[in-house]
Parts: sequence; structure tokens; C-alpha cells
Amino acid sequence: MTKFTLNGAEAHFDVPAEMPLLWAIRDLAGLPGTKYGCGAGVCGACTVHVDGAAQRSCMITLGDVEGKEVVTIEGLHPEGDHPVQVAWRDLSVPQCGFCQAGQIMQASALLAATPNPTDQQILDGMRLCIGRMRMADATGRAPVSSRMSNMAQIPVEATRTAATIRW
Ligand code: FES
Repeated sequence: MTKFTLNGAEAHFDVPAEMPLLWAIRDLAGLPGTKYGCGAGVCGACTVHVDGAAQRSCMITLGDVEGKEVVTIEGLHPEGDHPVQVAWRDLSVPQCGFCQAGQIMQASALLAATPNPTDQQILDGMRLCIGRMRMADATGRAPVSSRMSNMAQIPVEATRTAATIRW
């Protein structure tokens, strides 16, 4: 049996300690805000806080969090009004929304550890969403001939705007 604190309450899981924390959070505790994306520790969709630090819950087990304090997006703020959640809404950050809970958990842990981060620290501390990763991957795999023919159809202003996006 594994015991730890989950969103402020004591949690017990009578399953093998090797189970990924993500499965326990979603399937056993019934907290669906933490998402399964890449399953490889890259996209950040599964991010939770473990003793205040951002952790990929797909990459750690129940045994890894024995006796620790785990917080998911559901436990970040009782009304969903953590300053990062408010800023996320103010700037209409979510696009598809799938990995936003994990991204918010990453951002809130970053700000707790570094209250006044530089732009570079923010970029270094955040993860690309899984959609962008796959779009970048797909763009890199597209045949060169199709890239050139499609570029001719993109308005010049659109390419300039895309070039100013830093991440
Ligand atoms: S699902 Fe865990 S990092 Fe992508």
C-alpha cells in the first residue's frame, strides 16, 4: 500500500507501487485534469507538484511519492483562481486545451521557485505543448517539394507574423 497526501487529503492506494502516478491519479483517484500525452516525460500534460516541485506523473511511480505531498490541477486553488490560472484566462492561453492543466502546474511551480523569472527562464522552464511538438515534427518530415509549393500560397504578412513567434 502506498500512502501520500493528495490535494491536501491523505490518500491510500492498494496497488503495486510500480504503477505510474499518472494512472493512480486519473483511474484510481478519479482526477481527470492531469492528462496523458506523450507518456515519455516530454510534453508536460501530466505535470503535477510533488513537494512543491513540478514532476511528470507519467515518469514516476506511486512508490516515488510515498509520504510526499502531491498536488494536481484540481488542488491548485479551490476556485480555480491561482494567479497563473487567472493569467491563463486573461490571455486566452488554451488552444486545444488538452495539456493546459499540466502547463499551469509547470508555470505555478516555476513561479513559486522563481517569483520574478526572466523571459528566458520562463522559456527554459516551460514545455512545448504536445500539439506544437507534433506540428514541428510533421513540418520537418514534409517533403521539401511540398514545403516550397505551399509557401507560395501563404501571404507575406502571415510569414512575417509567424517569424516573430519566439516559441
Ligand atoms: S504524458 Fe507525461 S510528459 Fe507527456
